[in-house]
Amino acid sequence: MERIDIRTQRAKLENINALPTAPGTFKRISQVIGKPGITLSEISEFVSKDPALTTKVLKMINSAIYGFPGRISSVSHAIMLLGLNVVKGLLLGISVFEIMQQLMGGLWDHSVGCAAVARAIAEKKGIKDPEEVSVAGLLHDIGKVIMVMEYAPLYEEAINQAASRRVPIFDAEREVFQETHAVVGMWLAEKWRFPPNLVDVIQYHHRPGLTKKAPLETAIVHFSDLLVRARGFGFSGDSLVPAVHPPSFELLALSEDDILEVLDKLEACRDEEGGLTL
Ligand SMILES: [Fe+2]
Ligand SMILES: [Fe+2]
Repeated sequence: MERIDIRTQRAKLENINALPTAPGTFKRISQVIGKPGITLSEISEFVSKDPALTTKVLKMINSAIYGFPGRISSVSHAIMLLGLNVVKGLLLGISVFEIMQQLMGGLWDHSVGCAAVARAIAEKKGIKDPEEVSVAGLLHDIGKVIMVMEYAPLYEEAINQAASRRVPIFDAEREVFQETHAVVGMWLAEKWRFPPNLVDVIQYHHRPGLTKKAPLETAIVHFSDLLVRARGFGFSGDSLVPAVHPPSFELLALSEDDILEVLDKLEACRDEEGGLTL
């Protein structure tokens, strides 16, 4: 079995612009978003120049995930309402939609489902910016996108290993790549200058006990990931539903009714094709 040590590839992988496998929109968005001191008006201007991107941003924001359907008709309004981090995250999510569809069917639905569930739980827990937690949900598996995009045959090997040996994809990744998508996602989140709590959620969504900066947000995304898998919504590399981390579940303190309500929000994201297409 072929293996690589992905830890030696960090510098290469963070530089999305230099990856021949990355699609143009992803490169452009990644570059804009990683600029130091980028402002909301610069982002708004960038999006407005691209009609296809504008349509997708509005579709996403007006979907059931964000809970204000049909009310937002301009990108500048959306950006004012949502704030810099959320908009950055949404743009990145949108820009990888096609790669997710092409390279790992189901990862988009998994990510969107996780965004919807994370937002619903964050609201229940009274978190000030539930949209930020939702964006963490949308991007939590972004490391997989990079891995499958750049190392397609090896990633397939990891998926096959996970299936044939019935181990979580997280463990199969560690065997094939020496490190997991959670760490690759953290590299990118840092490169894109996301706030430390968001970086932590991405890095620790499979090991929520390790986060120092964002225990509640990480617990939310960790649990959302499980819930979306358990519900059979989308695909994220394996068919196993990992065990919940008990202290995170305790921290969330969700009742059965809370969970049922959250699952209703997940169902609301399905369109005629059963997911949310852009
Ligand atoms: Fe993950
Ligand atoms: Fe996931």
